[in-house]
Amino acid sequence: MKTKMIWLLMIGIILAACSGAVSQKATALKSLDRPAPPVEYSGKSNPLVGDSVAISTGEAIYKDNCVTCHGETGMGDGPAAGALNPKPQPLAVNQEGLGDDYLFWRIAEGGLRPPFASAMPSWKMILNEEEIWQVITYLRTIPR
Ligand code: HEC
Repeated sequence: MKTKMIWLLMIGIILAACSGAVSQKATALKSLDRPAPPVEYSGKSNPLVGDSVAISTGEAIYKDNCVTCHGETGMGDGPAAGALNPKPQPLAVNQEGLGDDYLFWRIAEGGLRPPFASAMPSWKMILNEEEIWQVITYLRTIPR
């Protein structure tokens, strides 16, 4: 009888620990730990949300410029990703927890500067503002 009680107690503790971990993960995905965009990008919002032409143009831009590192399905597993440090994160999943202004900033300025210090290129000389919004519009719809 006594051992049964101890087992029940232990199972209870394990279950409590697991549900704690699960809810923590869910919150982390909703709001990822990233630096806030600088003032010139802060608060920008995508004028093309859901626009079907923007989605298909953005997909073409993504395939031409981003797949090598971010991968066909945006999971950070492009052919060049293995050699990178830091590696691209699963953008297709993480975009959900990242604001338009953050995504625009990161695509425009890349990762050359701290705190990122990564191989993420700066696209602002290559893609114009509309093209950056188009690729973001596509990222929002990328299957995951
Ligand atoms: C040469 C490889 C490379 C290419 C090409 C590249 N990226 Fe990246 N990108 C990275 C790496 C590495 C990171 C992760 C480190 C960082 O955040 O700077 C990253 C990060 C990002 C982030 C921030 C994600 C986050 O979780 O904070 C976004 C958004 C992004 N890339 C979008 C793009 C888009 C859109 C393109 C194409 C126009 C692109 N990248 C092309 C390597 C690349």
